[in-house]
Amino acid sequence: MWASWWFWPLVAVCIADQFRDTAERIMQSTPVIDGHNDLPWQLLKLFNNQLQDPRANLTSLAHTHTNIPKLRAGFVGAQFWSAYTPCDTQNKDAVKRTLEQIDVIHRMCWLYPETFLCVTNSTGIRQAFREGKVASLVGVEGGHSIDSSLGVLRALYHLGMRYLTLTHSCNTPWADNWLVDTGVDEARSQGLSLFGQKQTGSLVMVNFYSDYVSCRAEANLSQVADHLDHIKKVAGAGAVGLGGDYDGVSRLPSGLKDVSKYPDLAAELLRRQWTEAEVKGVLADNLLRVFEAVEQASSHTQAPGEEPIPLGQLEASCRTSYGYSGAPSLHLQPGTLLASLALLVLCLCRL
Ligand SMILES: *[C@@H]1O[C@H](CO)[C@@H](O)[C@H](O)[C@H]1NC(C)=O
Ligand SMILES: *[C@@H]1O[C@H](CO)[C@@H](O)[C@H](O)[C@H]1NC(C)=O
Ligand SMILES: *[C@@H]1O[C@H](CO)[C@@H](O)[C@H](O)[C@H]1NC(C)=O
Repeated sequence: MWASWWFWPLVAVCIADQFRDTAERIMQSTPVIDGHNDLPWQLLKLFNNQLQDPRANLTSLAHTHTNIPKLRAGFVGAQFWSAYTPCDTQNKDAVKRTLEQIDVIHRMCWLYPETFLCVTNSTGIRQAFREGKVASLVGVEGGHSIDSSLGVLRALYHLGMRYLTLTHSCNTPWADNWLVDTGVDEARSQGLSLFGQKQTGSLVMVNFYSDYVSCRAEANLSQVADHLDHIKKVAGAGAVGLGGDYDGVSRLPSGLKDVSKYPDLAAELLRRQWTEAEVKGVLADNLLRVFEAVEQASSHTQAPGEEPIPLGQLEASCRTSYGYSGAPSLHLQPGTLLASLALLVLCLCRL
């Protein structure tokens, strides 16, 4: 009797494998572009950014969500590496820390040229796809990293940064952070201040942190897929993307424990009757579409914004105020005065 008790489970297993096979076939030509990975933060914490320490070898690195074999198994074709510095650096050394994390990303590309290709645009991503490398881009996590300066923002762009998240877990003078919604932090800007207002029209890149996925410490792959389904329902399949936050979070859903698991998520979407084109969208095409639109916009000749944030909106006493009207002019500063006096004394002695 062919329809005995074991038949249907067997059919289910075969179909599951079939979705997984299809996912892998799709990902051969459309590997995943993930929007957020905190491996650079692990490299700082574990090795103080000393990549040539043998323990930091990215081929054999064992206790992280990310290493080179896992990236390969996960069909990761592009990664926005996060240049992250925590909120306790705000108004202190946030800019320096951010620069160092951008540097360590560049050094990853330098040290593992057969694996990583540092790029800054969609053309570069497509080139890495063709060469079978992981296109490596820089994302900066949290507006505190630019210290409220559009000049710093533009300088980071020149260093390769291609996105800045508005906030991490602290308000900036121009944007409120998520803790405002939980009641932990006080609302200051009611979302974005006038200084912080920017245009929208982008992509929702889903974070895999268990607590965000299920509001509990445990979550599973199926619940992540529920989030993707929800975004598709609300905003369309073209608005769905992935930003796993691997190596930035302590708990991940079962079935998505490290970067090798993306094909399982793609298979789950196929099982939920997402079309191949929609799955390709989630993996890479949606981000490429938005990235290309951003590149179009940034190629327009528009003068860079020059107006600084009002001085009164900045915090911390160690901050200087050069350039703001009312700030002490160069000639009146004590250091300059002392130097001039010393020079005068020197000249007088020589007479
Ligand atoms: C990492 O380890 C592999 C295998 O042992 C070795 O071939 C490679 O040269 C090492 N890479 C670096 C950058 O140390
Ligand atoms: C993309 O970036 C590369 C450098 O990585 C640069 O040579 C190239 O001109 C850029 N392409 C476009 C279309 O901006
Ligand atoms: C995932 O977790 C949810 C909530 O706990 C549960 O209802 C569901 O059965 C789980 N799905 C799988 C495939 O394990």
